[in-house]
Amino acid sequence: MNVIIIRLKRNINKVRNLFFLPLSYLYDFSRYIKYSIMGGHPRNKTQYHALMNRDCHKLEKSLSVDEFKPFSGKDTISKILTNIKLFSPRYGFDVPVKNAIHTLREYVEFHKKIGRYNLHIENLDKKVSALEKGHNLSDWRTGGVIEKSKEQLASVTRWIDPERFFLSRYSIRNFSPETIDPDLIKRAVWLSTKTPSVCNRQGWKAYYVIDEKLIKSILAVHGGIRGFDHTISKILVIAGDINHFSGSNERNQVFIDGGMFSMSVVYSLHALGIGSCCLNWSVDFTKDIKLRKILKLNKSESVIMIVAVGHYPDKVKICQSHRKSIDEVFEIIK
Ligand SMILES: Cc1cc2nc3c(=O)[nH]c(=O)nc-3n(C[C@H](O)[C@H](O)[C@H](O)COP(=O)(O)O)c2cc1C
Repeated sequence: MNVIIIRLKRNINKVRNLFFLPLSYLYDFSRYIKYSIMGGHPRNKTQYHALMNRDCHKLEKSLSVDEFKPFSGKDTISKILTNIKLFSPRYGFDVPVKNAIHTLREYVEFHKKIGRYNLHIENLDKKVSALEKGHNLSDWRTGGVIEKSKEQLASVTRWIDPERFFLSRYSIRNFSPETIDPDLIKRAVWLSTKTPSVCNRQGWKAYYVIDEKLIKSILAVHGGIRGFDHTISKILVIAGDINHFSGSNERNQVFIDGGMFSMSVVYSLHALGIGSCCLNWSVDFTKDIKLRKILKLNKSESVIMIVAVGHYPDKVKICQSHRKSIDEVFEIIK
């Protein structure tokens, strides 16, 4: 009897999923078409920032490799110049613009240093000087490349005990009522901004929800937190913004970059002594629309996951969640 009921339930589940899967793909598809750059012309400030960050990073990346070919990246340079020209009169002379100009300046200086100052570089030099005019960028340090020694890089992490740090993180499902200093959460999120992202676009954001009523309604939409929702007094909602992505090839990037950022947030919280539990946002579009409305998210933002945060209680039961063996998850391809 039990087996028959289980089979029946599974079949109903399968039919339900067969119905919701195409609709959910359609939902994702239409959101991606509407809010991504799709390889076309940028339509808002975020899209300009994303493209300037991307192209600026392409250039700094090429300057950082040993096999840099002098004069390469002409296309990228012309994209950066065009975007600055279109962006600045409308949105101002902000950080991505300064980074881009600084990177172009480094590109010019690099060519000077290696004695390849030809007409093309001279031309670019003039254009960069015109952009720099009236703005003091001599102390601007981000964008471009810096050099570090092996010792500088290794000495920083030498003190870390990786096993102790990584193997001591657990999902916490019972928080103490002690108030959390919001600055600690802010610091964790700030540390997480060092997460790598595709062409340094950083299309993510963490919303720290502290309003009790709001949290209750969000957890009610989530619907899957049994037994510890009453101990959750603060949550982070991690979102990614589709505006940062371009073209069919980047259709899943918001979730990849957003997932990586989320992991950094969880490890940063761990480093700062704050407990957390990721709460999945693998939902059908109906729930997604509900949460989006509750949080008044930008239409282009996708929820990646929710992270419950809080202080550890004096004693807490934690799941000893089994891990696959290293041989199951690691293979050398010869
Ligand atoms: C994306 C994601 C979603 C998760 N969703 C939930 C959830 O909804 N409820 C929950 O109790 N735990 C959730 N977890 C926590 C996992 O159950 C947990 O990470 C896993 O069992 C390993 O245990 P550990 O984190 O204690 O090492 C989620 C974890 C991730 C990464």
